[in-house]
Amino acid sequence: MSDSYANVIAIDGPAASGKSTVARTLAERLHIPYINTGAMYRALAWKLINSSREITSLSSEDISAFLSTTKLACVVNKESGLFEIEIDGVRPGGQLHTDPVSAGASAIATIPEVRSWLLDTQRSMAGETKIVMEGRDIGTCIFPNAKYKFFLTASPEVRAERRLKQNGGAVDPETLARVAADIAARDEQDRNRTTAPLKQAPDALFLDNSELDLEQTIDVILKQVKKRDILLSRNTVLKYRVPYADTDQMGVVYYANYLKYFEMLRTEMMIAAGESYQQMEEHGYALPVIEAVCRYKASAHFEDVLEITGRIAECKGVRVKIECEIHCRGKLLAEGYTVHACINREGRPVRAPQTLIQLMTGEV
Ligand code: DC
Repeated sequence: MSDSYANVIAIDGPAASGKSTVARTLAERLHIPYINTGAMYRALAWKLINSSREITSLSSEDISAFLSTTKLACVVNKESGLFEIEIDGVRPGGQLHTDPVSAGASAIATIPEVRSWLLDTQRSMAGETKIVMEGRDIGTCIFPNAKYKFFLTASPEVRAERRLKQNGGAVDPETLARVAADIAARDEQDRNRTTAPLKQAPDALFLDNSELDLEQTIDVILKQVKKRDILLSRNTVLKYRVPYADTDQMGVVYYANYLKYFEMLRTEMMIAAGESYQQMEEHGYALPVIEAVCRYKASAHFEDVLEITGRIAECKGVRVKIECEIHCRGKLLAEGYTVHACINREGRPVRAPQTLIQLMTGEV
């Protein structure tokens, strides 16, 4: 797996496209954090509105002064377990969803200084574990290297109806038309601003969920995330610098270590596939090695950087064969395989877990 990918599920899209519900539900299903970046823009607008400042008439100096005296944080709400925005020690919560704040957030989001100020905060939230981050520019500007990208949208009518239902308002034709016009105006502003305009990243999956309910939308996204994990996992390249401890009296890597390298690759592959070996054990499987073969072609030395690659070559019933190759500076040093028997907690043979089959076929 390339470590240049950010472990982020980026969900971008226009207002009222269902992003927040989808992103939050997805995070719950995957037991990972959910960050709503729109709330950050809303919090800044909320603060400005509360201090009776007119957002559209702020000078560059005003913006700098405002940002330098603002403290924005994403804190965990102990009751819901969700991240919540705190601005200058206050959590505005529901106050971030009034019409003036929505309009103010859209306006403040056009200011380049504001966007670059938020960029660092948003980037600092990515780490080893997956996170779901929703916004307008997550897949294009904040994490152009996100592993998973989605552009979620719905027809203007569906979006207006959703917005009305969300706010508990009546869905009469007149109100619907007004809300649709409002949403269209915000879209226009989000799409046409010079800095980080709302647009689909070329490598994002476009998902129009007008005709899909929440479950169906989540299903599509989860399947796509798994597909991506499997694809990246199949391309895992483990780079390993040979330590002194791996070499023998002849000054080359001791032969038995190559089997350890095969195992290291298997571990990485499984983690990248989204189900680590440990998790597989928790799910009741074990994969003891019943055969191991290594053919040695050339030696590796202290401080060499090895490139270890591999694939599931066979997954037949209870038998799983994993092939491995070890290269250094483009030269093949060793190749081989291990064969595993798949057993359950009671030690009885069982069919190989789904993730291994998916890894072999590449299909989800
Ligand atoms: O998603 P939302 O409606 O809560 O976003 C509020 C405003 O903030 C919206 O007009 C667009 C803007 N925004 C943005 O420009 N970039 C983001 N990453 C998130 C939101």
